[in-house]
Amino acid sequence: MSAGSAAARALPREPTAHPDADPGPAALMDCLMGFVRTHALRAALAAGLPEALGERALSAGELAAACGAEPRAMLRLARCLAEAGALVQTADGRFALSAWGHGLRAGVPGSARAYVEYVVDHVVPSARHLPELLRSGRAGAPFERENGRDFFAHFAGDPAAGAAFDAAMAATLAAVRAAVVEQDWAGVGSVVDVGGGNGSLLAALLDRHRHLRAVLAEQPHVLPGAARVLDAAGVIGRVRLQECDFFTAVPAGADRYLLARVLHDWDDGSALRILTAVRAALPPHGRLQVVELVLGRDSGWTMAYDLMMGMLLPGHERTAAEWRVLLGAAGLVLERIDPAGWRGSILTCRAAPTGPGLRA
Ligand SMILES: C[S@@+](CC[C@H](N)C(=O)[O-])C[C@H]1O[C@@H](n2cnc3c(N)ncnc32)[C@H](O)[C@@H]1O
Repeated sequence: MSAGSAAARALPREPTAHPDADPGPAALMDCLMGFVRTHALRAALAAGLPEALGERALSAGELAAACGAEPRAMLRLARCLAEAGALVQTADGRFALSAWGHGLRAGVPGSARAYVEYVVDHVVPSARHLPELLRSGRAGAPFERENGRDFFAHFAGDPAAGAAFDAAMAATLAAVRAAVVEQDWAGVGSVVDVGGGNGSLLAALLDRHRHLRAVLAEQPHVLPGAARVLDAAGVIGRVRLQECDFFTAVPAGADRYLLARVLHDWDDGSALRILTAVRAALPPHGRLQVVELVLGRDSGWTMAYDLMMGMLLPGHERTAAEWRVLLGAAGLVLERIDPAGWRGSILTCRAAPTGPGLRA
């Protein structure tokens, strides 16, 4: 049989002939094969598979031709991706993108492509140094061992890697952005985005809510890029770009503060310093909204994500109870936890009346 005809053949749809008497080995293999699915996704992106499929269903042979791939190898890749859920297989054996597989296409709204590329290219290599995290307990050590410098120094010092990181952050931010923007902003006049990155969250927020004025509080080197994003969105006239070291002080007196995906980068001592600076700036009527994962909420997947963070950075993810303790230590009260995209959460906080370190 030629490779081409093998690729065109439909997958047999047979019931499992020998159900596992002992589910242990099956569970083990399922767990162990995770890396294959990870790299299969990355290879599919490199081959342009999601774009080649688009809205169509193609046989493996047609898909191979569209991607310039060897047909039998493409069949193996497509079957693995179908098992992983990125593709679905039609009754006649053709492959199409699944609902979330569509999100791997370049250029579609909320595309996850850049995030997959970043994880496989810039995170996965550090995983082999995981024993070092266990030995030393020093979060971020695996990344430093792999790259010779810490996470932020690496991405700041390598323009190509930095661009990949920024694109990945923008991809995942798109998912939480909608949840932040769609909240009720009617009673809010001013907002400070602390560590607001390239300004894309503020750009969407101010575009949607024309009455809002904002401050982007960031490190000096980040501000020029943010200015370009805010200018392109036509909202820069309502934004002040403020150089800020969030460990020291943040701009005071706004109605709303945002800390999106910042605190999980830091250990509890550093996170407490950031929150204490925000608490000092927060007026009695103001609210802080922290956009982060809540460990264990909705999914065990967050446990793996937390371990991944330990490979990269000094920080970690936190359970709801841990969030309450950390926020409380900074003189903040956690009022609500609402869901955001990609299994993120928005934690809304107000200032405790007595302030940090004081007892009622
Ligand atoms: C993971 S990014 C999150 C960016 C953005 N909030 C988002 O969700 O995409 C963390 C941000 O913290 C900023 N940052 C790091 N150290 C800082 C400091 N000392 N003061 C102010 N911002 C800082 C970085 O420049 C970066 O943009």
